[in-house]
Amino acid sequence: MDRQSRRLKKLTEDLVEASKASTGNISAHLVPTDLCELVHQAVAEYEEKLGKAGLEAVITAEEPVYGIVDGNLTWRVLSNLLSNACKYSLPGTRVYIEIFKKGKYALISMKNTSREQLNIAAEELIERFVRGDSSRSTEGSGLGLNIAKSLAELQKGKFSLSIEGDLFKAFVKYPLAKEPTIQKEETVLAQDVKEAAETTENKE
Ligand SMILES: Nc1ncnc2c1ncn2[C@@H]1O[C@H](COP(=O)(O)OP(=O)(O)O)[C@@H](O)[C@H]1O
Ligand SMILES: [Mg+2]
Repeated sequence: MDRQSRRLKKLTEDLVEASKASTGNISAHLVPTDLCELVHQAVAEYEEKLGKAGLEAVITAEEPVYGIVDGNLTWRVLSNLLSNACKYSLPGTRVYIEIFKKGKYALISMKNTSREQLNIAAEELIERFVRGDSSRSTEGSGLGLNIAKSLAELQKGKFSLSIEGDLFKAFVKYPLAKEPTIQKEETVLAQDVKEAAETTENKE
C-alpha cells in the first residue's frame, strides 16, 4: 500500500472508531482488572517503537491496582497514548508511567517531553482533528486523543491532559475495584488452620 492509501485507511478506521466510541456504540465489559499488568503488557508491545524513537519507558506502580475496566478498551486508550508518546517525544528522553490509587479511583498517568513547543491548550488538543502545529508533517488524523477520551468515558472513566512547558501529561481515571479475592483467601486460610487445630484438639 502506498503512503497516501495508508493514510486514508488509517483515517477511515479512526473516524469509524471515533464515531462508535463517542455515540456509545461500543459495549464495555467492565470487570476488576489489574491496571499494572495491562500497562506492562502495552508497554512491552511498544518496546520496539519506543526504542526506535530513542525513548525509555519508566513504570512506577503500587501493584496491583484494580480498576473496573474493559481490558480491550483500556488497551486501546494506552495504545493511543503510547503511539503519541513515540511520535511526539524528544528523542533521548523518558516516558514516565505511573499507576496508583487515589480515593475511589485507579489512575494511570503518562508523562513525556514534547519534541516541539506545545503552544496550544490541552482541552483544544483533545478536540477532534486538532493537531499541534508542528505535527502537520507527520501522519495522523488528530483523532487519537479524542478517541482515548471517549473510550475512557465509555468505561465510566475520565480522561484529561495537562501541558506544562514541554511536559505533556495524560491522565486516565477509573473506578477503583475492591480486592476481595486476596483478603478472602487469607481469611479462609486462617479459618482452615483454626479449624484444623480445633479438630486435632477434639481428637486428643
Ligand atoms: N505524548 C504527546 N507529546 C507531545 N504532543 C502530543 C502528545 N500526544 C499528542 N500530542 C499533540 O496532540 C496532537 C493531537 O494528538 P492526536 O489526537 O493523537 O492526533 P494525531 O496523533 O493524529 O495528531 C498531536 O498532533 C500532537 O501535536
Ligand atoms: Mg495520535
